[in-house]
Amino acid sequence: MTTAGLSWSESRPPDAVGPPLVLVHGAGGTRRHWPEEVRTLPGKRVLALDLPGHGDSPGPSLTSVPAYARTVLGALDALEIPSAVLAGHSLGGAIALTAALGAPSRVAGLVLVGTGARLRVSPAILQTMANPAALAAGAATLCDFAFGPGAGAALRSEFTQGFLALAPGVAHGDFVACDSFEVMARLGEIRAPTLVLCGAGDRLTPPKYSEFLRDRIAGARLEIVPGAGHMVQLEAPARVAGSVAAFLSPLRPSR
Ligand code: COA
Repeated sequence: MTTAGLSWSESRPPDAVGPPLVLVHGAGGTRRHWPEEVRTLPGKRVLALDLPGHGDSPGPSLTSVPAYARTVLGALDALEIPSAVLAGHSLGGAIALTAALGAPSRVAGLVLVGTGARLRVSPAILQTMANPAALAAGAATLCDFAFGPGAGAALRSEFTQGFLALAPGVAHGDFVACDSFEVMARLGEIRAPTLVLCGAGDRLTPPKYSEFLRDRIAGARLEIVPGAGHMVQLEAPARVAGSVAAFLSPLRPSR
């Protein structure tokens, strides 16, 4: 389905209660970076978006987190969703945090997965992503950094192929957006109930970043998933889906 120029998938069981869960993927990703288990939570309306220029959404892609956050909030407007729980992975977490800071009444809760309040990117990654000739090697290296040791070949291959399927410049723009993202001093403004999830072996957004979110966002709960890396939701889908479902169950229906 497509709304406000964004492609998305939806799971809407007839008994769905509470605010919808909206899933926002990370840099160079698509909604398939969220596993089936999270995209189809029992008793919850769940929407998974492809950001502009990613997956099935038309471009152009964007180069700043605030611009992506405006796009996601625009999609909520178009879908007539007054408020949602925003779940963001990596760049998606930055987008969710930015939406919560800029439009708190639209964000009923936050699920922050493998992300942080500042996402500086290694200059080597930025240079590789800027050079189309280096993209294949760069995708392979990024894949090595993105997964923990237990991730299987199929997951790794799908990740790399997805990256290589992106239009030129999309991945670079995403990492440029991450690199200038910084809300470390503003986390105390967030009032939305927040769950933070991180793989214990995350090498792109280390657990230290998640601990910072837990410490600075009032009432936030942190779960560190043993054995997983940056793609924790794909590496431990049942665990992540269970944690998200448990977090959502007490949230009250939106008015
Ligand atoms: N939460 C908590 N602490 C953070 C943070 C966050 N989101 N981001 C940075 N910090 C801390 C760092 O740990 C560091 O602390 P230290 O001085 O005690 O070691 C300090 O803030 C400064 O870190 P940073 O802003 O990252 O600058 P840097 O010059 O130390 O390192 C990089 C810059 C790019 C080399 C580094 O971030 C890195 O190695 N990144 C590679 C991983 C990557 O590219 N990830 C992609 C993210 S999308």
